Amino acid sequence: MTVHDRHRRDFLLKASTLGAAVAWAPSVIAAPAAKSRSRRRNEKEDVTPAEDLMREHGVLNRILLVYEESIRRLEAGVELPPEAVSGAAGIVRRFVEDYHEKLEEEHLFPRFVKAATLVDLVEVLRAQHEAGRRLTADILGLATTTATTTAGDARTRQTLVSRLRSFVRMYRPHEAREDTVLFPALHRLIPERQYRALGDRFERREHELFGERGFEGVVDEVAAIEKSLGIYDLAQFTSA
Ligand SMILES: [Fe+2]
Ligand SMILES: [Fe+2]
Repeated sequence: MTVHDRHRRDFLLKASTLGAAVAWAPSVIAAPAAKSRSRRRNEKEDVTPAEDLMREHGVLNRILLVYEESIRRLEAGVELPPEAVSGAAGIVRRFVEDYHEKLEEEHLFPRFVKAATLVDLVEVLRAQHEAGRRLTADILGLATTTATTTAGDARTRQTLVSRLRSFVRMYRPHEAREDTVLFPALHRLIPERQYRALGDRFERREHELFGERGFEGVVDEVAAIEKSLGIYDLAQFTSA
């Protein structure tokens, strides 16, 4: 129970003791909902475009961990639920390619090209988005029982491993370069007000595409896949 909840409870108790609860309750009960809505709005306004995009890279990183665990299982001949790979690739398609990368392509890359800044980097990043989409199409096609079950076809399994590996190899440097070079440069490229407005725009798009819970809902989806593979518990990765 939060301090706010405690105050509210104490207030309601007092109000009912005074026999005023009936008259007071509707406005009192409505207040916290309105407050939490406005708090959510404020939180959204506080997320800068770079922070937003970097959090999305966090989701991508967790998918890369899912891919690495999938590679390990496929190579060791250990059982791998096909939904783990197809689910992760589905999130890559919906969240990374059709949302996150679209934001980069529509709102970041053209600004750099226009300002003749980091043009070579932007060109490579754009080409990698394209290559990523091709890999994801392959992964979605290959992530079936034919490749993932131990009795499945070894060649198909090998092809799936190769596509997953290529994806991980490309996206680690891709997102690291965006985090350390492109995003900080964006902040220098556009005026503060425009920068903030861009963050709001990203946030609105996120909720249009992914509903009320937005980013958090996608994180939950990734967590469920991690759980299905036994890689969710963070403590297991602590060095002895
Ligand atoms: Fe990118
Ligand atoms: Fe990115």
